[in-house]
Amino acid sequence: MRLAINVDHIATLRNARKEFLPDPVAAAIAAENAGADGIVVHLREDRRHINERDVRLLREVIQTKLDLEMAATEEIIKIACEVGPELATIVPEKRLELTTEGGISVIDNISLLTDTINELHKYEIEVSLFIEPEISQIDASAEIGADFIEIHTGIFANCISEEEQFDELDRIRTAARHAKKLGLGVNAGHGLNYQNIKIFREIKEIDEVSIGHAIIAKAVMVGMENAVREMRDLIRFG
Ligand code: PXP
Repeated sequence: MRLAINVDHIATLRNARKEFLPDPVAAAIAAENAGADGIVVHLREDRRHINERDVRLLREVIQTKLDLEMAATEEIIKIACEVGPELATIVPEKRLELTTEGGISVIDNISLLTDTINELHKYEIEVSLFIEPEISQIDASAEIGADFIEIHTGIFANCISEEEQFDELDRIRTAARHAKKLGLGVNAGHGLNYQNIKIFREIKEIDEVSIGHAIIAKAVMVGMENAVREMRDLIRFG
């Protein structure tokens, strides 16, 4: 199972001061140095974290694979075609959401998604559709020519009881197997963390997981002591 790192929240922190640091491009390079198999960024319509400069620079510097998460809108499709990520992951996007809240309904957006896939394919960009683990959505994804699906794991991540978690994991496993049988690549993501990732290793059909928040949160905490020590030493010893 490959690991793709979403660096959106490095940009969230940068934008909080409207300055230059921390830089998501530098974070992406650090992630690659640590063994990440790919870098993910979501260029949102409201540019709340990642901006066009980030996407274009990432395209220049990253050595692994760029996965551009995006809504299927004319503006963002145009940027994707210019930039040329290896993968475009199509997500539903709502202005007021804090993060992507669920998968896109392929069935309800057949014509929009077919056109989007065809356009991105013209530029040799593979396309993944972020969907719920439902057989009908997977069938529709295959029919309209998607290369990958990304299974939404947020419901699993938010399950409270073990029983609920078991049922949701079963849905994800069944979905992953079904998608593989149809020849689709299978990614998974949202809400995955240092605790719940272990159980995912058992689902052999998942090619790649996409993880952001838990890793950025951990990076801040494991870096805190070093950062304070460095400043304290500067103050004490110059
Ligand atoms: N996959 C998709 C499609 C997402 O929208 C997100 C959140 O940006 C992720 C994966 C990563 O989720 P998290 O930040 O919870 O790890």
